[in-house]
Order: sequence, then structure tokens, then C-alpha cells
Amino acid sequence: MAEGAAKQVAERGQGGRMKAELGGVVVLDFGGQYTQLIARRIREQQVFSAVLPCTAPVEEIQRFEPAGIVLSGGPSSVYDSDAPKCDPKVLALGIPVLGICYGMQWITHTLGGKVEKAERREYGRAQLKVDCAGGPESSPLFAGAPSALRIWNSHGDHVRALPAGFRALGHTENAVAAMEDCKRKIYATQFHVEVKHTDRGTELLRNFLFNVCKAEPKWSGAAFIEETVEAIRTKVGSKRAICALSGGVDSTVAAVLVHRAMGDRLTNIFVNTGLLRKNEFETTLEMLRDRLKLHVIGVDASDRFLAQLKGITDPEEKRRRIGREFIAVFAEQAQKLQAGEAHGEIAYLVQGTLYPDVIESVSVKGPSATIKTHHNVGGLPEEMPFALIEPLRDLFKDEVRRIGKELGLPSEVLVKHPFPGPGLAVRLLGEVSRTHLVTLREADAIVVEEIRKAGLYEKVWQAFAVLLPIRSVGVMGDFRTYGLTVAVRVVESDDAMTADWVKLPADVLERISTRIVNEVPGVTRVVYDVSSKPPGTIEWE
Ligand code: XMP
Repeated sequence: MAEGAAKQVAERGQGGRMKAELGGVVVLDFGGQYTQLIARRIREQQVFSAVLPCTAPVEEIQRFEPAGIVLSGGPSSVYDSDAPKCDPKVLALGIPVLGICYGMQWITHTLGGKVEKAERREYGRAQLKVDCAGGPESSPLFAGAPSALRIWNSHGDHVRALPAGFRALGHTENAVAAMEDCKRKIYATQFHVEVKHTDRGTELLRNFLFNVCKAEPKWSGAAFIEETVEAIRTKVGSKRAICALSGGVDSTVAAVLVHRAMGDRLTNIFVNTGLLRKNEFETTLEMLRDRLKLHVIGVDASDRFLAQLKGITDPEEKRRRIGREFIAVFAEQAQKLQAGEAHGEIAYLVQGTLYPDVIESVSVKGPSATIKTHHNVGGLPEEMPFALIEPLRDLFKDEVRRIGKELGLPSEVLVKHPFPGPGLAVRLLGEVSRTHLVTLREADAIVVEEIRKAGLYEKVWQAFAVLLPIRSVGVMGDFRTYGLTVAVRVVESDDAMTADWVKLPADVLERISTRIVNEVPGVTRVVYDVSSKPPGTIEWE
């Protein structure tokens, strides 16, 4: 475990988890594309859920005192030499287990059944027949379901022979689709209950949660806030904390939560990296101070960041330098505060880390691959003498928005689009210069304004401009021009793990394009990005 995480667990007291996190479901991740969706679906039933890598030690799982464990899907075959594995003890804890897809195959393989390559890969919709003796009602998992269901599959291997003690609950044309061992409380489906395309998937999951696990539906925003505030209070005692605030939803919700627990013993630091959007530093600072009543120090460090970026074109190098400079600025401010502080030691650092940040950045250790280094995770805590407070670490963005609403945050904060820590530096391809930053800021402001005017801002995940170092020929008035290109990127997404480009109405595109070319000096051409993620990422760098 990383030092920061170990510190955090230790600070949370016995068992290391907050009360609201106990009695939920631990989802063990085998690298499946739907793992987060499983956790989300469980929370939608007001049952807390946390995702851990499949390699998590049993003791770490037990800290949650879970009512159930779900084993996710995954891209591997149990016969691969590097096939992901759990500790087989998870099947013998007496805690109900639900294996989904690869999870079912791993259970079968581990308990002595047989898994084999399917002759025909099952992908997409299939028909399931619940053909066990006694029909659906005889199984706690299928109770209330009809005996024929349309389900969603995505697997290349399937279960050929069940492990001893199991019975098959249903079949598709090609394979065993579900099985159970009620005595050991182990259940499994070859199909994905978490995917909307599976009929009655939610009911099956509810059956597992409430019939099998006897979980209590007690996870709500209000309960989360109350318990988090209480836990922070107990943890920090009379010490002080600092927070790197960006004005985005995550760090603002985290700061407001912690502020509730410790008032002005929390000092927030908001750094102007020079890579923010038009007027963003001033308006955000005003909102944080005047409307949210947070204690915020605004630091204008633009020159330092721009100096660091001189001559740098590689995106990951830009991220590294911005991350490093950010730590330097932050550390200086913390030192200043510490030196001038008469009211107690600053011992904690608050971060608005969300679950998807954790998974995208640390997944090198688990089954899925890291795509980009997102600098708002990692970095800071390792190098500083602070313990972490990360109240949102197990949550998804929409859950954080709900918590923010419950905390009374203004809607403009809650609906704000995500903005990357390295800011405009990763939306300006090639070297970052002051002139190009001005150009990009103006173009970006037009995109956002027109998206708002069209009533689309709250419907899309992100909408922004990217400045390309590509010059093309244009004609303005009677003159030939040779100017820059702006790409417009508007995407829909649930959690930024996948995204679709938005089919914007032609008149909106037209207004954006006309305004940018007319109002932003130096730009001759506007293009619209029609790539989805995957294969494209949301940001261009
Ligand atoms: P990608 O481009 O990886 O973006 O599809 C997924 C989400 O993450 C944001 N993003 C970042 N956030 N630091 C951040 O704090 C970064 O370096 C970074 N890169 C991308 C992006 O805006 C999108 O919401």
C-alpha cells in the first residue's frame, strides 16, 4: 500500500473505515470495463460500495465489514498465465459473493469446476432461460424474475462444468448463464446484471443485495455528509488543514465538507497557474470567498508556470512540469502558513480525489492500464509532511454533485464542466505561449457561451476549444490570411471513462464557427472533433 494510503487508513481509527462505509458491498476489480458501473448500480440502491483491485488483501476487504462481495468481469481468460486472481479466501469468509462474467469463471475455476473457450464468442444480447427445478422463485437471485429474459453478454470463455455444490439456474443457447450454491452463499451470472440492456438486471442485483446479503439501504447523501463531518472532526482534533482548491466541483465539495467539520482551521489555496480560462481566477476567488465563505488565499503564480513551460511540447512533460511547479508553489504557501501560525499545527491536506481519478492513475498496479497521469492525484502527499483527508475518494462525479447540492452549493458550481489540472496547457498543442493562451481563452469563452445559450451546457459533459498549431490559408475581406485552427470539442459522458461526441445542431456549430473567426484575431479555421472515447481521449493531449 502507498505510504499516503496507509497513513490514511491508520488515521481512520479502528477498521480504518467510516461508519457510512460499513455494511456495504466490496466490488473486486478484475479489470472489467463495467466494474465502476457495478459499484454505481449498488449505490443507486442506497447501499455503499467500494471498488478494490482483485489483489486486495482479505484484511483490507474485511475493514469494510461488507454485507457482500462482487467479483467483476474482466478481459482475461482464467487460463492466461497472467490471469488476475483474488485470494481464494474471499470465497470462504461466509460473506455472500456474486461473480459476474469473468467473476463467475474465476469462481468455477477456483472451486474445481471447468471453464473452456466457447466455440462461439457471446457478445451482445442473448436470451436466457431460467430452467432450474422450481423456476425463478426457487432461487434467491432470480425470485420475481420471469423464466425468460433478454440479457447482455460479453465473453469468450464459458463454464463447462459447475463446481461441486452448485446448481445451474439458467442457460443461454450456448452456455450456463447463472449458478448458485446457496449453502456457501455464492452466486454467479455469466451475463452483466449491471448493464441496462439486461432485462431485470436491477431486480437481480436488488435480490442479491437485499435477499442474499440482507444489506440495509442506508447510504444517502445526508448520512454521508453527517458521518464524514463527524469522522473528520474526530480525526483532526485541534489541528489545522490546507486544501488546494481549484473551484471545480470536486475540490469545492471537499473543501465545503471539511469546512463544516473544522471551520476556518481549514485554509484553502487557489493557485493561478496562468493556464486558467477567461476571467476564471477572479470570478472563482470571489465565489469561494463571498458566497461559500471559505478562507481562501489566492496566489498568482502565472509567470512561474509559463517559465517552466518554455520550449516544452511533449504533453506528459508539460503535465510533469506543471505538477512539480504546483507542488513547489503549494509547499511555499504551506510553509508560510505554518511559520506564521499561532493556532496549531497544520497536519492535514484536503484533496477532492474521486474514485475515477484513483483508478485512472493507480491502475498500473491492477489489471487495467494507465492512460494518462492525472496530476491531481499522487504527487502532493508523498512529498509533504501531511496526512490526507480525501472525503470523496470512493465516489463518482454524479454522487459528488448530489452531495454538493445537499450541502447547498450554488448550481453554477455543481454543473461546472470538469477542467484538467494542467488547464489550457493540454488544450494548446505544442509550446505554450502567452499569445496563444489569449487566443485559446477567447475561442473557449465563445464555445462555452454559445453552448450555454443553446441550453446545452448542463446536458453535455464538457465543451471547450483546442488550439492547433496548424496554419491554413483563409480569406478575409480581400486579403489572404494564414492563421491558426481551433478545434471545438463537445462530449457526452457519464464518468469520462468513455465519451461520445455530441451531434450539435448545425446552427449552433455555425454560430460558434462564425464568432470565433470574426472575434478571435489570428484564427482562420474552425473544425469540429467527431471522435469518441475510446479511441480518442477527451482532451487532445
Ligand atoms: P481524457 O482526456 O483522459 O480525460 O479522456 C478524462 C477526463 O479527465 C480530465 N483530464 C485531466 N484532469 N489532470 C486532471 O486533473 C489531467 O492531467 C487531465 N487530463 C485529462 C479531462 O478533462 C476529462 O474530464
